[in-house]
Amino acid sequence: MTLTVLVGMQWGDEGKGKVTDKLAEDVDIVFRWGGGANAGHTVYINGKKYVMHLLPSGLLQGKPCGLGNNMVIDPEQLLKEMDDFAAQGIDVSPERIMISSLAHIILPGHKLLDSAYDRARGKGQLGTTKRGIGPAYADKASRHGLRVGMMLSPLRFAKQVYELTEMHNRDLSRFGLHDERLSAIDVAHFYQEYANRLVPYIKDTSVYLSQRLQAGANVLAEGAQGTLLDIDYGTYPYVTSSSTIASSAALGLGVDPKYVGKVIGVAKCFQTRVGAGPMPTKLQFDSAIAKHLRSEGKPGEEKGATTNRSRDVGWLDLVLLDYAARINGIDELILTKLDVLSGLANIKVCESYKYRREEYTHLPDGAITDLDNCIPQYQDRLSWPAHDIICNDDLKELRGAADSYVRKIERAIGVPVSMVSVGVDRNDIVRR
Ligand code: IMP
Repeated sequence: MTLTVLVGMQWGDEGKGKVTDKLAEDVDIVFRWGGGANAGHTVYINGKKYVMHLLPSGLLQGKPCGLGNNMVIDPEQLLKEMDDFAAQGIDVSPERIMISSLAHIILPGHKLLDSAYDRARGKGQLGTTKRGIGPAYADKASRHGLRVGMMLSPLRFAKQVYELTEMHNRDLSRFGLHDERLSAIDVAHFYQEYANRLVPYIKDTSVYLSQRLQAGANVLAEGAQGTLLDIDYGTYPYVTSSSTIASSAALGLGVDPKYVGKVIGVAKCFQTRVGAGPMPTKLQFDSAIAKHLRSEGKPGEEKGATTNRSRDVGWLDLVLLDYAARINGIDELILTKLDVLSGLANIKVCESYKYRREEYTHLPDGAITDLDNCIPQYQDRLSWPAHDIICNDDLKELRGAADSYVRKIERAIGVPVSMVSVGVDRNDIVRR
């Protein structure tokens, strides 16, 4: 009867989809607790690629899955995802998928306003995913958002959709976007149809999860985005609009936090970021190393799974990783994409920052919003040949410099690395 929380340690895209799929083998239920279709979780099984934006990656292991109350759900996207998976023979029946009645709903107006707000920032654009995330959480906080439970009365729901869409139209007009105004009647009509289809999936998931945990089930909470995109603890304002850190999992699922038995962090062996915002170890976008790290043109290429934008890349930053380990209280770390570093001549790791003429191995006070002034310091450089990561074909042990790299990370953050992903496929994982 344990809730295991899986959390991203960087700016999202750490490979949580693949890791969730792996960990889902050993649990009974998998739930996502926050964010929306801004996420893009990718899993490769026998060379076939599956991308999930809203559904938890545990679905591919045949486990019951759910969408928790702190999510913002785009019903059109959700139904499309369900239809796509159903067409591939994956069970997406209400016995397998549950949606919290307390989760909030994304309307087309949220997406238009997301673009409008970001454009209005001019040079300071955040580069959001334009999935309506910020405006939907803003409507939630200002208490005129729509919740999934409202769909249970489709006719009344259609009226509520109409009214909120008209409000969004007034906001669009204020931006001078008269041409983008929506037909509230059409939106209400479509959303009534979505409601008719989604009603069987709606549940009080807080009650369901609490009862299952009490009865001894093991639940995996699949995080979305990453610690450095957290609305409070990330690189504000270049963050998403929800809580992404481990302590928000119980809140986002409606369960007693005492059920949390383990927190697992997921980090890439280097770093990536899509959208704007600082990254002290960022490499020049067009450099040969950046292209290598982006794995351009190969499976696992560093492009946003949601927006298809090429990601910025940088060296692993142990100061930020240590910060994320502290904020989340992780018990263990899973590293991904170690294989991508293979064959590089001088792999660098940021071990400390120079900040206001002092050197720091832990993030200095206030520096999370002043990363532009943190100068990364690199010490020894490692490298290993492409074929030299693992000892044997059973994927049992890391060897040589690749192993030293992982040990260096463990030493820096004081947390064991329990698994290392060394390839795109579901089974390319070394357990330690
Ligand atoms: P939003 O969440 O769409 O509002 O975007 C805010 C910032 O978070 C942008 O820089 C996005 O690129 C980034 N972001 C949001 N979700 C993800 C994700 O799942 N992976 C990586 N970046 C994300």
